[in-house]
Amino acid sequence: MTAEHPNEQRTDAAAAALPATMTAWVQRRYGDASSVHRAQVPVPTPGPGEALLRVHATALHAGDVHIMHGEPLLVRAFFGLRRPRRATRGMDVAGTVVAVGAGVRGLAPGDEVVGELPGGGLAEYTVAPAARVVRRPEAVAAGVAAAVPVSAGTAWQALDLAGPAAGPDKRVLIIGASGGVGTHTVQLAALRGAEVWAICGARNERLVADLGAARTLDYARVDVATQSRELSPASFDTVIDIVGAAPLRTLRRLVAPGGSVVLVSGEGGRVLGPVGRMLRAGVLSLTPGPRIRPLAATPKTEITAELLRLVASGALRPVIERTFPLADAGAALAHVDARHTVGKVVVLP
Ligand SMILES: NC(=O)c1ccc[n+]([C@@H]2O[C@H](COP(=O)([O-])OP(=O)(O)OC[C@H]3O[C@@H](n4cnc5c(N)ncnc54)[C@H](OP(=O)(O)O)[C@@H]3O)[C@@H](O)[C@H]2O)c1
Repeated sequence: MTAEHPNEQRTDAAAAALPATMTAWVQRRYGDASSVHRAQVPVPTPGPGEALLRVHATALHAGDVHIMHGEPLLVRAFFGLRRPRRATRGMDVAGTVVAVGAGVRGLAPGDEVVGELPGGGLAEYTVAPAARVVRRPEAVAAGVAAAVPVSAGTAWQALDLAGPAAGPDKRVLIIGASGGVGTHTVQLAALRGAEVWAICGARNERLVADLGAARTLDYARVDVATQSRELSPASFDTVIDIVGAAPLRTLRRLVAPGGSVVLVSGEGGRVLGPVGRMLRAGVLSLTPGPRIRPLAATPKTEITAELLRLVASGALRPVIERTFPLADAGAALAHVDARHTVGKVVVLP
């Protein structure tokens, strides 16, 4: 956030009152949730271009547990070879600015903000690159706002990648509709005017229909890989794959000419994760037929701001399966790691 701010000259009383240490969940080695421990650590100091936030809510997602495990191994090239360079997990954060570093314009202590950070959310305080946060609308509670940046942002970018083929009067198939990304993709596709077909577990069919799916299919009954009769060839304008299990050729066969398959899933082999599937998608797209478009979503504050406006207006409703207190953040990570989250999991200090 860089625009001029009316409160820029406000004295930093909140920062003066900061404690020296805080509770944070830290990780000194890669592993499952048992590798993450509660600790008392120094409250960080914001560097140039950063803001210090008092954390009100942190939402977790599949990416947090990929980094926690250091898997696929490719993750370690970016997040630390032997151990995670940043010890504290948690990227989606809503909090109050309590101090700003040098060169930060447009943010001041007392501002309520939300953003996708590089990590650090499972703590009482965290530093955020100022350019990664946006103002939280008053109408959106912190625990709801934190659920938005990564998952809804990914959903938005997946639909943008599909373009008009996921717009009015188009039929969109969403594979994996009940998780953090899926619940937002169903709602946003319906908001764009598409007819949404959604594949999810039987226990979530009612929820997904309430979110806007015209048709729901139980993944235990309808197997995309074997082309069940419900899924006839060329019957969709867009297929958005958030699970990553069905063969690419099968997904492509489901799409009508002019449409595309969007690959969102981060699953794949232990070493390269989804990269092999994405490369195969590139090769396959060279042959005649619908395009396969892999998505690598990136943090985009303008999209987060637009999504928060939709939440504030009631048009978008983040689904929050469970909230955990910060004292139970290890259990929250284990829950997300089990890969059966319905919507989002949020940790509240
Ligand atoms: N490309 C990108 O830029 C990007 C960005 C963000 C996330 N991602 C990826 O997107 C994927 C989803 O992330 P997430 O945070 O939304 O995950 P999540 O919330 O953990 O997803 C869990 C949900 O997936 C459902 N599910 C599991 N297997 C399924 C199947 N075979 N068919 C249909 N639904 C199934 C589960 O339902 P049940 O409990 O009924 O099994 C559960 O509700 C991950 O692979 C993540 O790495 C990619």
